[in-house]
Amino acid sequence: MLSNCVRRVCEKKEICFKKSLLIRKEDIKLKISEIARQLKNQIQPENTIFLGVLKGSIFFLVDLLREIDFDVKFDFIEAKSYGTSMNSSKEVKFTKITEMDFANKIVVIVEDIVDTGFTMNEVLKLIYQKNPSKVITCVLIDKYERREVDVQIDYFGFRIEKGFVVGYGLDFADQFRCLPDIYTLEKV
Ligand code: PRP
Repeated sequence: MLSNCVRRVCEKKEICFKKSLLIRKEDIKLKISEIARQLKNQIQPENTIFLGVLKGSIFFLVDLLREIDFDVKFDFIEAKSYGTSMNSSKEVKFTKITEMDFANKIVVIVEDIVDTGFTMNEVLKLIYQKNPSKVITCVLIDKYERREVDVQIDYFGFRIEKGFVVGYGLDFADQFRCLPDIYTLEKV
């Protein structure tokens, strides 16, 4: 038996994963400070709305807003496309939408990860329909190997080629989200 095997029950089956540290919480914090410094020069607080894409972006959005330290408005939408799979269903379902008025506002879309690009593409379509003055996208992880849709990424924290990542909001079947560091996960 592997010593670093992590067991989880998913859809009534026990799965064993190898979990390897990829990005430490200290490095996430440093990167968020850097992004916040740059973003502050791009926005006017009274005219800006931050929009987190749930659930994955929850910690990133909160930590980013604390670093930005402006009294901006924020809201969430919720988009789902993975369920309990490690692959995108390619069908993005919005399970929560926003009722905020984005007309003539700077909208900062905050995502934990862009992988295939399907989710960000649908979020962008939704927001551009609401006539914002500007849309800025801010993504913690830009994972490019499986990209199928070329989407706008204005700020990113880390670029990785491949691997299924969890922690700091990122999940597998709603598990591992609350880990403070980011790990790669492989089924063994
Ligand atoms: C994850 C993640 C992104 C999306 C990125 O969402 O939070 O929104 O996948 O993948 P893509 O670029 O291949 O579309 P998920 O559907 O797992 O929902 P969650 O945020 O609740 O985990």
